[in-house]
Amino acid sequence: MEPAAATMLSGRRALPILLAVFALLAAAVTVSARGGAERAPTLVFILAGQSNMGGRGGATSGNRWDGVVPPECAPSPRTLRLSPSLRWEEAREPLHAGVDAGNVVGVGPGMPFAHALLRSPACPRGAVVGLVPCAQGGTPIANWSRGTEMYERMVARARVAGAGTGRVAALLWFQGEADTMRREDALAYAGRMEAFVRDVRRDLALPNLLVIQVLGSRRRSGRGISRGSGWTW
Ligand SMILES: *[C@@H]1O[C@H](CO)[C@@H](O)[C@H](O)[C@H]1NC(C)=O
Repeated sequence: MEPAAATMLSGRRALPILLAVFALLAAAVTVSARGGAERAPTLVFILAGQSNMGGRGGATSGNRWDGVVPPECAPSPRTLRLSPSLRWEEAREPLHAGVDAGNVVGVGPGMPFAHALLRSPACPRGAVVGLVPCAQGGTPIANWSRGTEMYERMVARARVAGAGTGRVAALLWFQGEADTMRREDALAYAGRMEAFVRDVRRDLALPNLLVIQVLGSRRRSGRGISRGSGWTW
């Protein structure tokens, strides 16, 4: 077969075939360029904090994720995630795979947030959400002060995410339980959170960056106290 094809290409019929091949290639390039543009996020959200944000849904027993993806966590062509290697890809659970290192990750709040946003009448038409998972299980806020590994990783990822077509719309922060064990950590939390918000806004050069925080209280033995209240900075 190969010699025949080569002979054919070297013959007089080669030109039309080559032209056809070029036309196909050109079409493919156009499609992928357009596809790429469609798949660039327009609204970028940084997801940070500890396991509540990293996601443990379906991953709290047996040391593995059960693989169940509820409808509110289903993938959508309009929701991308920044991969650990800093590439945009279609977002899939577990969203924090490869980011929340050393932990068994499951479903979390990122995908339902994106779905709710895209469903909202206030959402710009044609918006594509870019999620930037940065959370790490078990980290107290001291692990997120300026200069720490977590902080610098988050800022580096947020910079890449905001460098393209998308604008960083908000930082979603779901953390706090690691700081409820010791009284001094709890008392220092507000000041550390304020410093965190101030530093992130400065380092990203986004002085008005919206920070949406979920405050969770520690689950006490016997009674399940797991309240969350939203704060916006
Ligand atoms: C959190 O901070 C402690 C104390 O500095 C450090 O040993 C630990 O490696 C940090 N963890 C992460 C995930 O950055």
